[in-house]
Amino acid sequence: MWLLTALLLWVPVGGQVDPTKAVITLQPPWVSVFQEENVTLWCEGPRLPEDSSTRWFLNGTTIQTLTPRYRITAATVSDSGEYRCQTGLSVPSDPIQLEIHRDWLLLQISNRVFIEGDPLALRCHGWKNKLVYNIVFYQNGKAFKFSPQDSEFTILTTNLSHNGIYHCSGMGWHRYTSAGVSITIKELFPAPVLRASLSFPLLEGNLVNLSCETKLLLQRPDLQLYFSFYVGSKTLMSRNTSSEYQRLTAKREDSGLYWCEATTEDGNVIKRSSELELQVLGLQSPTSVWFHVLFYLAVGVIFLVDTIFCTIIHKELQRQKKWNLEISLGSGHEKKVTSYLQKEIQSEEELKCQQ
Ligand SMILES: *[C@@H]1O[C@H](CO)[C@@H](O)[C@H](O)[C@H]1NC(C)=O
Ligand SMILES: *[C@@H]1O[C@H](CO)[C@@H](O)[C@H](O)[C@H]1NC(C)=O
Ligand SMILES: *[C@@H]1O[C@H](CO)[C@@H](O)[C@H](O)[C@H]1NC(C)=O
Ligand SMILES: *[C@@H]1O[C@H](CO)[C@@H](O)[C@H](O)[C@H]1NC(C)=O
Ligand SMILES: *[C@@H]1O[C@H](CO)[C@@H](O)[C@H](O)[C@H]1NC(C)=O
Repeated sequence: MWLLTALLLWVPVGGQVDPTKAVITLQPPWVSVFQEENVTLWCEGPRLPEDSSTRWFLNGTTIQTLTPRYRITAATVSDSGEYRCQTGLSVPSDPIQLEIHRDWLLLQISNRVFIEGDPLALRCHGWKNKLVYNIVFYQNGKAFKFSPQDSEFTILTTNLSHNGIYHCSGMGWHRYTSAGVSITIKELFPAPVLRASLSFPLLEGNLVNLSCETKLLLQRPDLQLYFSFYVGSKTLMSRNTSSEYQRLTAKREDSGLYWCEATTEDGNVIKRSSELELQVLGLQSPTSVWFHVLFYLAVGVIFLVDTIFCTIIHKELQRQKKWNLEISLGSGHEKKVTSYLQKEIQSEEELKCQQ
């Protein structure tokens, strides 16, 4: 019954790191030491009550120790290798690559592989704890930190730019230089991309959804990203677990440069998107509507007046025609003249009304 309950409690949660995995921690915290130095490895992981048994592996083969603590006293080259551990209810831990060196100066590091945002500790360590001073730390051959006294330096929040080969130099009897060590920083999530749900152009009153899109490349327990949305220097939404932002009804004043930011809960990793320009086109403004109304009204009035005039002229001409006919009937002599006049008047009338 106990076993079942414990097993249920340790069922991996979807999408997160396997919580049944054991973890090795080092004391002192360096993955490389000098010969004859002491190192203690601790194994943490889920266990059954009353069962503290731990399995240790070096280069894939089991070693005799069964306690959660594995102590190496006066390390020798044969202690170097890849260590893993496993507790009663865990799967084997990620490996720790322990190196045993023989040199004048050793650049000690707290791990070889980090996830961006993790702290990275460095120590420029002299053989037999010999004092070294005027220490210089280098990344890819370039000095990045000078320290007159302190042999330790910590990069509190690593980012991808911290990838590379590190070494150090320091003064003892003369200036010593350590060998190089490779450090890898893994990306947790890429910079987000801001997308809008509507294609352009946006019209006033449209509903627009903005989404801040990124993808977790690594799984970590309890890892939650927070999203913020901005337009220019104005914050629209700050640190929300939702990667979506809804702009209910777009207005012309909403036009601008939008961007978003994705961060981890501790704020150690912050990444922002590039800007997205949103332009909201206004519908016709009231003044232009009135202008159009008046314009068409004026055209209509002109047309109406024109038609009325045409009709009046036409009627007038009809009356004149009648009168002319009467005259011509009266005296046959003047017939020619009248019909000529009539033609002229008719063509004039046509011209007027065609216009
Ligand atoms: C390592 O541990 C042993 C025994 O605990 C101790 O005698 C020795 O001084 C230690 N060595 C160093 C370098 O601290
Ligand atoms: C473990 O493997 C490393 C090389 O991967 C080797 O240098 C070391 O000696 C091995 N350790 C043991 C105890 O076999
Ligand atoms: C990485 O961190 C260093 C400080 O340690 C900082 O100067 C640099 O701007 C950071 N790079 C990025 C891409 O965030
Ligand atoms: C915007 O998001 C809301 C709620 O998430 C959804 O109901 C709506 O359909 C989305 N609109 C568009 C245009 O994608
Ligand atoms: C986070 O976003 C959701 C959905 O967009 C909203 O309902 C909620 O109020 C927001 N929370 C905060 C703290 O802004």
